[in-house]
Amino acid sequence: MISLARSMMLPLSRQTVASSRALLSTATHAHTGFGTGSMSMPPGFNAAQASQKLGSMFKKPKSPQAPELRLAETKPTSIRDQGLGRLGTMPPGYRAEVAKLSILELPERVTGTASDRELGRAIIDNWRRDGIIQIAMSPCAEKLWNEAHAASRRFFQKPHMEKAACVDSQSYAGYIASGEEITDGVADYSEIFTVTKDLDVNDPRVKAKWPCHGPCPWPASAKDSDMKEPVQRYLDRLGAEGEKLLRLTELGLNVAPGSLSQYTRDGWHHARVLRFPARNATNGKGKEGRGIGSHTDYGLLVISAQDDVGGLFVRPPRQDEKFANWKKSAAGLHEDDDGWVYVPPVRGTHTVILGDMMQYLTNDYLKATPHKVGLNTRERFALAYFHEPSFQAVIKPLADAGNGAGNEHADQKHEAEGIHYGTHFTNMFMRNYPDRITTKRLEEENRYELLSRPELRTINALPSSS
Ligand SMILES: [Fe+2]
Repeated sequence: MISLARSMMLPLSRQTVASSRALLSTATHAHTGFGTGSMSMPPGFNAAQASQKLGSMFKKPKSPQAPELRLAETKPTSIRDQGLGRLGTMPPGYRAEVAKLSILELPERVTGTASDRELGRAIIDNWRRDGIIQIAMSPCAEKLWNEAHAASRRFFQKPHMEKAACVDSQSYAGYIASGEEITDGVADYSEIFTVTKDLDVNDPRVKAKWPCHGPCPWPASAKDSDMKEPVQRYLDRLGAEGEKLLRLTELGLNVAPGSLSQYTRDGWHHARVLRFPARNATNGKGKEGRGIGSHTDYGLLVISAQDDVGGLFVRPPRQDEKFANWKKSAAGLHEDDDGWVYVPPVRGTHTVILGDMMQYLTNDYLKATPHKVGLNTRERFALAYFHEPSFQAVIKPLADAGNGAGNEHADQKHEAEGIHYGTHFTNMFMRNYPDRITTKRLEEENRYELLSRPELRTINALPSSS
């Protein structure tokens, strides 16, 4: 069934796809999220004025029968921050525009129809302009998010020793304490539970000591239903969303079916369940007020959900900024420069940004999205799901991404050997967690050398010794 939003699609180019639901939901958000005395609002500001100002930017439709007129009034994606962010949910101490993203609705299935193709192009246009899209959660997805969110709150409330025991020496899954993660040499204060592919110790890849392969150390004292099951159910759902988005991206790029999704057979999908302490409740080390420093993520897509507190900033693509995180670290780039956009939380939506492998695959036509997280006046919970190539995939740039518009970095096409995703992933985790037991064991046992073996560079291959 074609959704309401898709049936009202505008002609493309740089238009944003909007729906009556999108406009209503952003207007509602403006009134409830920003203007009702949220605890995150600094003292001395007038909440009612802020609510009125934001609300006036989004008109409710006069009637559901006149959608075309409203769609012709599509609002700019972002507005210059005139204090609205500070009045709202934007963490204090940041200078940024406030994103006003439309909400896209994905179809139940992508079959390559004309409307699928149109939606795909709209998604590409949005990513190329904003670096981020916002998609509606289905009622089922929203229920699963709520359950995973509740599970994460339960987990992070546990005593430190109980959380700290959730570590594995072979995988990077498990607990990361506030201040443990390093981005560009500076400690981040996010508190994290990382989920990677949960492999039994008897799995042949684990027995063969493949880097990063091992169990996910779910909290031992809890019933599976406390943490593992709700989080895994939600991640499974996001996996299906990721595949749908990849198919739409292929349509939007006008490349053959499977050009992207060929890499996600046995994808190395993983996730970070995140808690950010209130800015005045960190352990006092490092740079005050920082949740996560500027960086790009590693794979194809990052699908995220957040609670109502707010903290995410993205950096839309700029012609004058070039980076390639797989060649030279993009961590810390432009951290304190102008040009960041704050992404306010909108209930019932996911945001989707792009990772390094999407940039590489598309010859920079779709760039990885630099992002960072600020600490707010309240603790904040979020979950980032990474839809990734197989650990064993060797990625090669598409020949004709974006109908040839991506040829500006033709030099990448000369990297005939491609990028081995498992090596990129391992490099990134070793860089972020230099002191973790997993990094130390990996180095001590020379596991890194295994990454050049043919079976580790062939999707679905198993260790030759098994
Ligand atoms: Fe990230």
